Amino acid sequence: GVDKIVFSSTAAVYGEPEKTPIEEDFPHNPTNVYGRTKLVIENMMRDFTNAYGLHYVALRYFNAAGAALDGSIGEDHNPESHLIPLILKTAQGVRDHIAIYGTDYPTPDGTCIRDYIHVLDLADAHVLAMKYLAEGGKSTYFNLGSEKGFSVREIIETAKKVTGIDFKVTEEARRSGDPAILIASSKKCRETLGWHPIHSTTEEIIASAWKWHKEHPYGYK
Ligand SMILES: NC(=O)c1ccc[n+]([C@@H]2O[C@H](COP(=O)([O-])OP(=O)(O)OC[C@H]3O[C@@H](n4cnc5c(N)ncnc54)[C@H](O)[C@@H]3O)[C@@H](O)[C@H]2O)c1
Repeated sequence: GVDKIVFSSTAAVYGEPEKTPIEEDFPHNPTNVYGRTKLVIENMMRDFTNAYGLHYVALRYFNAAGAALDGSIGEDHNPESHLIPLILKTAQGVRDHIAIYGTDYPTPDGTCIRDYIHVLDLADAHVLAMKYLAEGGKSTYFNLGSEKGFSVREIIETAKKVTGIDFKVTEEARRSGDPAILIASSKKCRETLGWHPIHSTTEEIIASAWKWHKEHPYGYK
């Protein structure tokens, strides 16, 4: 009986884009199973909209990052694969070093550029999307990103500054399937929902995540 859904989708539905910033109607060519399954579900929701009158908003997050500002809720994955938590675990000595995968990308410092969006800004977008559907909004999809790109090296340098800790960084070969640059255009969401990220500076993202990591060096356990 559910007729309204806000769905956590992903920038991975686009795969490797031909240009940047990425807009919603760019080709969808996911390069991994994760992105493909999200796209399958988006397509199912579109079919259900046409066939049965479902209303949905698919939110395509770019790199979700950061933590509750009071340090109470943070990111605890096992195994951890996200850049900022891995860097902070290195800063606190839980991991020995942080590896940069690829330093020969066509970017100013040779490392991959990504768009980091604070979880509190993502949360705001969900509330706005729920209100939009409650007020009769049509099924649609939005990119959620800060619309700014930061390289892996820039994130590491900011983490060193925010934590005040110098830690070991190694340089390794590229991983297959990593696009050089992924930056969102969130114009559609800004204009349709009136969404404006307010927490998504790299400093605030890393400082909030650092607060949580310091209080939870081994996660919630
Ligand atoms: N982290 C990112 O950068 C990112 C980017 C794009 C999209 N997303 C999407 O956002 C969502 C949340 O991502 P996350 O990084 O916070 O992941 P996460 O693994 O931290 O959180 C997933 C949550 O879902 C719960 N869960 C898993 N299976 C469940 C089940 N069968 N029933 C009930 N709960 C279940 C887990 O316990 C966990 O609390 C996911 O759908 C993910 O695909 C995340």
